[in-house]
Amino acid sequence: MNEMIKTSDTYFLGHPKGLVTLFLTEMWERMSFYGMRGLLVLFMTREITEGGMNLSAPEAMAIYGIYGASVYFLCVPGGWIADKIFGAQKTVLYGAIIITLGHYVLAIPSDKTFFLGLVLVSIGTGLLKPNISTIVGQLYKPGDLRIDSGYTIFYMSINIGSMLGFLVCGYLGEKVGWHWGFGAAGVGMTFGVLQYIFTKDSLGEAGKKPNLSVNEDRAKYVSLFKYASAIIGLILITSFLGLWSIDPELLNQLTVYLILIVAASYFIYLFTFAGLSDEEKNNIKMLLLLFFGSVLFWAGFDQGGSSLNLFAKDFTDLYVFGWEMPATFLQVANPLMVVIFAPFFAAFWITLGKRNLDPDTPQKFALGCFLMAIGFLAIIFGVEAAMQNGKAGVQFLLITYLFHTLGELCLSPVGLSATAKYSPIRYRGQMMGIWFLSSSLAAGLAGLIASRSFESGISSMPDLFYQIIIALCAVGVFLLVANRFVKATPIKEANQES
Ligand code: PHE
Repeated sequence: MNEMIKTSDTYFLGHPKGLVTLFLTEMWERMSFYGMRGLLVLFMTREITEGGMNLSAPEAMAIYGIYGASVYFLCVPGGWIADKIFGAQKTVLYGAIIITLGHYVLAIPSDKTFFLGLVLVSIGTGLLKPNISTIVGQLYKPGDLRIDSGYTIFYMSINIGSMLGFLVCGYLGEKVGWHWGFGAAGVGMTFGVLQYIFTKDSLGEAGKKPNLSVNEDRAKYVSLFKYASAIIGLILITSFLGLWSIDPELLNQLTVYLILIVAASYFIYLFTFAGLSDEEKNNIKMLLLLFFGSVLFWAGFDQGGSSLNLFAKDFTDLYVFGWEMPATFLQVANPLMVVIFAPFFAAFWITLGKRNLDPDTPQKFALGCFLMAIGFLAIIFGVEAAMQNGKAGVQFLLITYLFHTLGELCLSPVGLSATAKYSPIRYRGQMMGIWFLSSSLAAGLAGLIASRSFESGISSMPDLFYQIIIALCAVGVFLLVANRFVKATPIKEANQES
């Protein structure tokens, strides 16, 4: 079967031409996503005279949490819509257009349209993000060994895009005007949409059609989609008209409960009614462990855009050579360090693997949690310095982001491939959804944590961060212990010969 594998398409760094299209689309999407997100809590907490919304820090953190949770929650229906209705290629295009509109709406300097902008960006990202990630895999025929390095290149586009966003939108937003920053995100995403439209043909058949089996009826799914959209539209319109409103902190809590119920029900279903073999159930047990680790890790990591971002703006000395840099510039540390360290990590795991020392996935997750805990320890020192002197040096946040990035590199790439490797084949798409659901739950939880971290100014931070450190270490130890009792076996592809 090997001769069937077409490796002649080596247009881009030895990879198919379609990867350029996906690379650039994801780069611009992440540029706009992180550029805007970096400004979000800063803009919401500034006074009206500074062009902001004058919200309290806990309220702003809660809105940020709800926004992050919605973005990744919507990736689940986003994947479903591509599978059942439009196919991934078209769904990515629709998502990209909706995101662009969302950013332009945010560029309008009015509080009334602010939430509409956020809603559009979340819906668009839910349609784009999961599907662009699956098209990457479909560029390669089964068995093509380039797929892993294809994903690594794609991961680079994510980080190059976010660096660009933090720099461009951050500078314009903080130095020129908030809405200029949001507008720049819109312009970036416009480049992304245009290049996607013009180069989409290079994707060929990858993600072109929905994934329906013969006995599935697309029309039934279309009407389900229409009803669901109508109900959601009604809820949103009545809220925009001011017919009902809900306190952001309460909504943040409800969101967390909702996602928790969805995730728990899904795992219970898998263990009881899904008809899985014992071997498959063992794999799901391992994925459940990873789910726990992932939620706690990303909940800590997400403080970067919220509580730590506000700490950077108001309590960190941002002067370099007499110039006060935008707080968002510090956010560049994470993607920059990912680009620098990712190749070393990949080589390190391979070297360990050759000696049969490669840690199991839950062990890598545990390491990720411990590194995240060290990062929080660094920021506690920073907060204490700021409480004494009014401002802390940038080194505290930089050390924090260094450890958070090292943790990310232990956890994020292996999490995705473990989901692919250990999910029963017929549940693979949905298990990818569960991976995004863990990010969603994490973002909601991060909102709750960040709100509490500013309850009574930064003096609330040290105690709360100590609790996070304890929770991270507890989950890390739990993963290490539980790993001894859970024996997962990689699922073999139906067409895999060896
Ligand atoms: N930096 C990653 C990205 O933007 C973070 C992430 C990991 C997001 C996993 C979602 C899921 O893609």
